[in-house]
Amino acid sequence: MPANAGIFHSNCTPNECDNMDQSAKKLNTAKASLEYIQDGMVLGVGTGSTVNILIDLLPAFRNKIEAVVSSSVETKARLEQHSFKVSLLNQVGDVDLYIDGADEATKHLHLIKGGGGALTREKVLAGAAHKFICIIDDSKLVSTLGTFPLPIEVIPMAQSFVARQLVKLRGHPIWRENFVTDNGNHILDVHNLTISNPLEMETQLNQLPGVITVGIFSHRPADILIIADDSGVRKIGQ
Ligand code: A5P
Repeated sequence: MPANAGIFHSNCTPNECDNMDQSAKKLNTAKASLEYIQDGMVLGVGTGSTVNILIDLLPAFRNKIEAVVSSSVETKARLEQHSFKVSLLNQVGDVDLYIDGADEATKHLHLIKGGGGALTREKVLAGAAHKFICIIDDSKLVSTLGTFPLPIEVIPMAQSFVARQLVKLRGHPIWRENFVTDNGNHILDVHNLTISNPLEMETQLNQLPGVITVGIFSHRPADILIIADDSGVRKIGQ
């Protein structure tokens, strides 16, 4: 039982306080990534609730950032709310630093991403980045990827075909209903996969016709994983 079990703020239930703890961890991991922003950088910005916290901290670093590139329509809108001019990747060339969250991560810096559906542009920015920093709270650190359903972006006409191939691989694909990606595609969330060899599985799933992007990030893993836990932040990688 945690040391603070039973202790909660007077204005929240224990469950709400758990959420507040997670928010505090997200803030801590986002803050820790800011030290990597250097003068004149082209910064790539990921997508999700952890990154949203980062975006809200970015205005203080405006003078250091040469250009900013977004991994999603949602992130672009939030950056623009903070008066950042968002560039296209095609305009800036490579990205100096890419910061993004993840749905699962291992100590080998392999990730599952795409819970927010932005995996394709996220993978492009990670691939274009000289340094990729992944910011997570400790609930996302796992020994083996796959408990979080693996998102796969597919072109709509191939959705059923790809789903049948995934069943042959013992996955249980579920179509993410009423969701269209920023690229006009669909998402299959694949349950029941134990991803013991992420490199092999990423390669194998990438071969399926109709697959745009697989949410395993192992061929281009994070360079640095910043993990926030109850005692602060720790880092894996360099
Ligand atoms: C977006 O498509 C995802 O890859 C996110 O990076 C991932 O889902 C993490 O999001 P949260 O920070 O909201 O958990």
